[in-house]
Amino acid sequence: LSTTEVDLTPIATGSAVTVMWRGKPVFVRNRTAEEIQVARQVPLSQLPDPATDQSRVKKDQWLVLVGVCTHLGCVPLGQKPTDPRGDYGGWFCPCHGSHYDTSGRIRKGPAPTNLLVPEYAFTSDTQIRVG
Ligand code: FES
Repeated sequence: LSTTEVDLTPIATGSAVTVMWRGKPVFVRNRTAEEIQVARQVPLSQLPDPATDQSRVKKDQWLVLVGVCTHLGCVPLGQKPTDPRGDYGGWFCPCHGSHYDTSGRIRKGPAPTNLLVPEYAFTSDTQIRVG
């Protein structure tokens, strides 16, 4: 399938799902107000791959990412509540220790760039289409 539909209604605030799109995991996280605030407060000068949080989302609470570490392609941890999320509260790649923040931006470790935001669109208030 070249597109994947995701129903957002079962994803509670603070939780996430993983769906498959073109053979890759895509993370959809319903961010808490605090996660959004933290992502927006960080100065761009502190980011190895500078990008505003606003430029990475279509609606503040919903963060949609390709779940593939930009170092060597492992799937970062952070989707389950019990997963380690690294030093910046987003995702942690256990392969070589890359830390991503609550906007999916690389903050520490060998990954060169932020987690990618795939092409997607809201098809209603509670549904997105990835791809
Ligand atoms: Fe993620 Fe190397 S593949 S840190």
